Amino acid sequence: MTPTSKFVPRIVSFLCNWCSYAGADLAGVSRFQYPPTIRVIRVMCSGRVDPSFVVRSFLNGADGVMILGCHPGDCHYATGNYYARNRAEVLGWLLDLAGLDASRLVLDWVSAGEGQRFASLVSDFTEKITRLGPLGSGDGLGEQDLRDRLLACRNVVESEQVRWLVGREREMLANKNVYGEDVSEETFHTLLRSKLADEFLRSRLLLLTAGRSLSVKEMAREMGTASSVILRHVGVLEQAGLMSLAGIDDNSPKYRAA
Ligand code: FES
Repeated sequence: MTPTSKFVPRIVSFLCNWCSYAGADLAGVSRFQYPPTIRVIRVMCSGRVDPSFVVRSFLNGADGVMILGCHPGDCHYATGNYYARNRAEVLGWLLDLAGLDASRLVLDWVSAGEGQRFASLVSDFTEKITRLGPLGSGDGLGEQDLRDRLLACRNVVESEQVRWLVGREREMLANKNVYGEDVSEETFHTLLRSKLADEFLRSRLLLLTAGRSLSVKEMAREMGTASSVILRHVGVLEQAGLMSLAGIDDNSPKYRAA
């Protein structure tokens, strides 16, 4: 018996009221079997699932998160599930940055008549998360490290600039940017990924220096990142008034989150 064989994953599933929730209902009345691992949250549309709901689910102990909506083209609010798809992609990149397996989040489609499909998706996802193991330890992270990383993720998805970029993706790709230029999907994703990486690192630095002063070298050691990279981000945070010089120790400037 492996150490994880007794592990029963906790899965939060956001179900769209108009399709997946009815699909889950059909699975129940049809007596299709699936594991009792999911905690259901009914939403009016998969587009209602804010990225912060997903990160907060992980922070509150979920090992996996499912978002199930209407099939593309069938959303009752026309485009909600397309927004959900963009957000899920961004969340996958962020989980990756945080050192967590991105497949702990799944977005899929289930119509009201697809009870069997609902049961299969839950069974497959439960199997996958069971294989991955508990959130954190299954990803090789300690408890505190996991919490710090998830808090940084939460700050990133709640930051105004990231929310603006993620929310505008569909519009910006369909139309032109504010300078009247076409933006390719590749260019937009490169920009967004680099923004996420910067915000994630800065958020981790702020959490690291909350209530204590550290030199750039110490921050670099704790984060496992090059000092030159840390120095650049400390400069940005200082300019934004989010970090300040707390003193000098042994000729090394020490910084603290403001
Ligand atoms: S109404 Fe079901 S995904 Fe939008």
